Amino acid sequence: MLIKPSQDKLVLPSEITPREVYEERRRFIARMAATAAVGSGIWEMANREAFAQAAGPKLAATRNAALSTEEKLTSFKDASSYNNYYEFGLDKGDPAENAHTLRTRPWTVTIEGEVKKPVTLDIDRIIKLAPLEERIYRLRCVEGWSMVIPWVGYSLSNLLKQVEPTANAKYVEFITLADNKQMPGLRSPVLDWPYVEGLRMDEAMHPLTLLTVGMYGQVLPNQNGAPVRLVVPWKYGFKSAKSIVKIRLVSRQPKTAWNDSAPNEYGFYSNVNPLVDHPRWSQASERRIGEDGFFQKKRKTLMFNGYDQVASLYSGMDLKKFF
Ligand code: MTE
Repeated sequence: MLIKPSQDKLVLPSEITPREVYEERRRFIARMAATAAVGSGIWEMANREAFAQAAGPKLAATRNAALSTEEKLTSFKDASSYNNYYEFGLDKGDPAENAHTLRTRPWTVTIEGEVKKPVTLDIDRIIKLAPLEERIYRLRCVEGWSMVIPWVGYSLSNLLKQVEPTANAKYVEFITLADNKQMPGLRSPVLDWPYVEGLRMDEAMHPLTLLTVGMYGQVLPNQNGAPVRLVVPWKYGFKSAKSIVKIRLVSRQPKTAWNDSAPNEYGFYSNVNPLVDHPRWSQASERRIGEDGFFQKKRKTLMFNGYDQVASLYSGMDLKKFF
């Protein structure tokens, strides 16, 4: 991703206060906050507040608690105004400003390749194909920030099973919309359009891999990848392709947009891994959007973004080599 050098020249409190003093002060504030939160249900209230700001068409879904984190949600406002969607511009605010030109109806998704039953499905059929679940996932961007978002969708495996993959289907390629008339960002040569992503077949079939049609109880805002996107919570955010129009099952590892543009920086797997730094920055910690206060410490990044249940997919693989 394109990272602009920070212009801030802030003096941190840690630079002017003796270490033992500010560390004790931080511990005290954290204890106070924790006590208050448990006592008064502040987290509950904060989560309701995050939902309250969503005002788009509603989408009913049943919470899948087993696959959801209980962490405090990122506000809808942050999740829908701080985006990466280069087809609508390179700055974080550009997608929210520009993506109103995206037409999400009519919309079809073609599923083809190594399948016995290729099909083109209308988006409204896709939405009804399996019961919609709400899953609260962490999303960790390769740039070093993260969010906690209540997505709405169902496991991608539900859709893939319908087309009956052949024995040759080893990978899945996701191709997204590239339409000059709707997407001003396509004028920029930053990527070789369309934006394409890929997963290994077992990754695509993993229950955590979510075919996503909504968030915060409503249909996806355009800037978040309407009308249908992927969310793969144990991988860096760029694997979660937005506004998908074609899903192709293939026998060979497909070309993917970021890997193609900078293979030494963005691997095909791109599992969240605090032990493998990006060539230009560390991946050991992250900034949770909405927690940017003066005293806020960065969070430690967790292996597989904390989704340990996927570890067995990679047993025996050198994850430094296959980053
Ligand atoms: N999909 C498309 N088509 N185009 C993009 O530029 N950006 C990716 C991913 N999917 C991107 C995309 C990146 S870098 C991230 S971090 C996530 O979308 C961001 O999703 P969000 O804006 O919903 O948080």
